[in-house]
Amino acid sequence: MVRSAWLLVALAWLTACNPDTVVHKVGWFATMRHQRNIKPYARPIPSVPGTVPVSGAELPVTRETADRLVNPRTRTAESLNRGQWVYQTYCLVCHGEHGLGNGPVSLAGGGPFPGIPSLVDPTRPKMTDGAIYGMIVEAQRMGRGLMPRYGDKIHGNDRWDLVNYVRNLQLNARGNQ
Ligand code: HEC
Repeated sequence: MVRSAWLLVALAWLTACNPDTVVHKVGWFATMRHQRNIKPYARPIPSVPGTVPVSGAELPVTRETADRLVNPRTRTAESLNRGQWVYQTYCLVCHGEHGLGNGPVSLAGGGPFPGIPSLVDPTRPKMTDGAIYGMIVEAQRMGRGLMPRYGDKIHGNDRWDLVNYVRNLQLNARGNQ
């Protein structure tokens, strides 16, 4: 009888209050909570004038700037292997395993997505490495609105390794000329 009464009291205590809101009411615990600091979201601190980003921000790639970009990655086996992995992860669904434009979601591959070109068709205008990079990073800014943006998904060396891989697909399609 006494035990179940205690149990009831304990239950009422436990369910009535969230420990986090109660604990700081006890003076001894409160010292951690009440201190001179800026609470989350309390006061946004503007960055110091003249601050330059060391990560996260990048200049937009446009049709005008893309062609001038220099590919910093040599077409080594390591670069191509990585590029292949990135290609198969993001591009194959549309452009197809060998870049013929016949991936599973493309019209040519029986899927619903229209307008996917072959990446290896020698009759299409030849693209510079920078232009391929631009298509990967920001197809819309390149004036090519049909292709989704991948700059937020593919970062760093992966982008140029992918450029190298696309270039390799083209070379293979043309019999390594
Ligand atoms: C959702 C389908 C889709 C995916 C996924 C996709 N693309 Fe595209 N891609 C397109 C379409 C559609 C176009 C034609 C764009 C236009 O003309 O507006 C295109 C055009 C291109 C072109 C220009 C080809 C030319 O000759 O004009 C390149 C290069 C390219 N894509 C590379 C890639 C790479 C690399 C990936 C992987 C990151 C990729 N694409 C992923 C749909 C896709």
